[in-house]
Amino acid sequence: LRKTPVLHEEGGPYVISSYWDIKNLLHDPRISSDAANLAAAGDDELSEPEQTGLPPSFIRLDPPEHDRLRRIANSSFGPPHRPTRIDSMRGELGQIVTGLIDGFGDTRQIDLVDQFAYPFPVTVICRLLGVPREDEPRFRAWVDPIVAGLDPDTRTGADSVFKQTAQDARMQLGMYLAGLVEERTKEPREDMLSDLVTSHGPDGAMTTMEVLATSVLLLIAGHETTVNLITNGMLTLLRHPEYLHRLREDPGLSVRIVEELLRYEPPVQLVPQRTCIADITVRGVTIPKGSRIWLVLAAGNRDPERFEDPDRFDPDRGDIQHLGLGSGIHSCFGAPLARLEAQIALSELARRLDNPRLVEDPPPYRQNAVLRGPRHLNIA
Ligand code: HEM
Repeated sequence: LRKTPVLHEEGGPYVISSYWDIKNLLHDPRISSDAANLAAAGDDELSEPEQTGLPPSFIRLDPPEHDRLRRIANSSFGPPHRPTRIDSMRGELGQIVTGLIDGFGDTRQIDLVDQFAYPFPVTVICRLLGVPREDEPRFRAWVDPIVAGLDPDTRTGADSVFKQTAQDARMQLGMYLAGLVEERTKEPREDMLSDLVTSHGPDGAMTTMEVLATSVLLLIAGHETTVNLITNGMLTLLRHPEYLHRLREDPGLSVRIVEELLRYEPPVQLVPQRTCIADITVRGVTIPKGSRIWLVLAAGNRDPERFEDPDRFDPDRGDIQHLGLGSGIHSCFGAPLARLEAQIALSELARRLDNPRLVEDPPPYRQNAVLRGPRHLNIA
């Protein structure tokens, strides 16, 4: 990739791997995220369309629709004029983390994926949206097959039973959320779902279908990504124990550690859902209108033209302007939450785990070209 910053094979996507090219293209209005443009450009192996039966969520829309929906969602997530919903969740996130770590008990070995990183973000999204506590187990039971259904490991082969389970779970989750939206429309509370259906900003509120599409988007975009940031993070810290020790002494270091992790070991390795809606020239190569384009964030993050000694994990480096959360209008909507979740999780794990060590290195990985992270991370 490094030798060919614009890589293309007949019939395939244009694969872009240098930092500045990726950044420029993420800000270029001639690059579309629209699901319809993507479908018109034809299939490739990484872009299975979302089959939710819902309208496209804003990650798969271009302006002006993207901007309208994102603004409404944002007015609930982090309005500039009051402490954001995310800041106010700090204490609650700490409690969820403590509860999960307490659950390890006295066992000699834990799987950080199953016992910690996986359940954490679902619980957080439930609290954010305003799912009643007593419904959280039901909610999680629907989310499990949906998330697993997105995983190529479980999706491949003749596993149609699995696909069916995922489809059923989507239906049930959709119906459950629709009921909750109806309740919140009649009787708003202090939660994000209520804000979405009662928003009084210049863009008005979302329709019920838009709220459902947005809720499912938050759930899916914020799940596996957060799981991987935490597990990639713990793996990297265990391989660089000096930072684990420093983090134990100084939880504030988690801010720089998480930024460097998003550069060094980004959960989202590449963005495959883009189409050119005009001819674009990158480094002398003309990418014709209608072509699919893959932006390899992970390669941009290790571009030696942009970062000094890019393959070294160094939270003390002066400049960590990574691409791990994307850039431009589609840059990660959940970024403040993702950062806070990872900072709290890693600093608490560093504080509470007594002399942790990896049981196997490298751990087994998920077979997924877009999302990188271990399937299990056994720690003794
Ligand atoms: C978009 C990464 C966590 C919600 C993105 C994009 C990246 C990303 C790279 C850009 C995609 C593109 O350009 O097409 C990550 C990583 C996370 C994380 C590495 C965790 C560590 C979250 C969380 C949420 C979330 C916790 C929600 C609660 C979204 C949404 C978008 C997005 C809604 C679409 C934004 C738009 O289209 O305007 N994320 N994300 N993400 N992320 Fe995240």
